[in-house]
Amino acid sequence: MTDKQKKSRRRAKSQPANIEIREMQLKDIPAVFELGQKLFTAEHLPTLYRSWDEHELVALFDTDNETCLVAEADDRIIAFILGRIMEKPRNAWRYGWLEWLGVDPAFKRTGVATRLLNQLTNLFIERDARIMLVDTDVKNHSALAFFRKSGFGQEMRHVYLSQNLEAHPKYIERKHAQRSSRAD
Ligand SMILES: CC(C)(COP(=O)(O)OP(=O)(O)OC[C@H]1O[C@@H](n2cnc3c(N)ncnc32)[C@H](O)[C@@H]1OP(=O)(O)O)[C@@H](O)C(=O)NCCC(=O)NCCS
Repeated sequence: MTDKQKKSRRRAKSQPANIEIREMQLKDIPAVFELGQKLFTAEHLPTLYRSWDEHELVALFDTDNETCLVAEADDRIIAFILGRIMEKPRNAWRYGWLEWLGVDPAFKRTGVATRLLNQLTNLFIERDARIMLVDTDVKNHSALAFFRKSGFGQEMRHVYLSQNLEAHPKYIERKHAQRSSRAD
């Protein structure tokens, strides 16, 4: 953490700003996206399976805006939580999936994520969710500490595997075909 970040974090902790939590609106998308870009870096998202991009944000907002919240201080978005209700075929249970949660580093440990999570939990319950789910990288220690402190448990390990398709005969064949069609 830089000296500037430390200073601003101390300031945020000592004088908690007037933070308002409200439903996310269309106009908030650029600010939420920008904050997410600062937080969800390759360090925090080491796999490609979860990527923070505009399309995902817009799609989530489009389908589930009622379960997307932002925290605002001095007319600035300083945190967000994006969730969606999930129903599985042949399963009567509804799940509340916490997809993305992010807090501006200057406002960390001021309880803003807790407030966002509490409100999202209420929204999920109002929509008949019986289980709330969240996932994060195993090395994201601060998020894991936060989720465990907030009542999440029953942790399950999930392994991602990958294969480089460049060595696949079909891939090589396709590349050859592309090269020869360009040469014609
Ligand atoms: C994880 C994150 C959302 C927590 O936000 P926050 O606003 O700082 O959380 P809160 O202030 O509500 O913390 C509540 C409690 O969680 C625990 N906690 C939060 N951050 C912690 C950390 N870095 N280390 C240890 N415990 C932590 C503490 O018990 C804390 O209570 P305390 O401050 O009284 O000790 C924030 O660090 C963040 O935005 N991280 C980057 C994005 C991310 O990883 N998101 C999650 C996956 S989508």
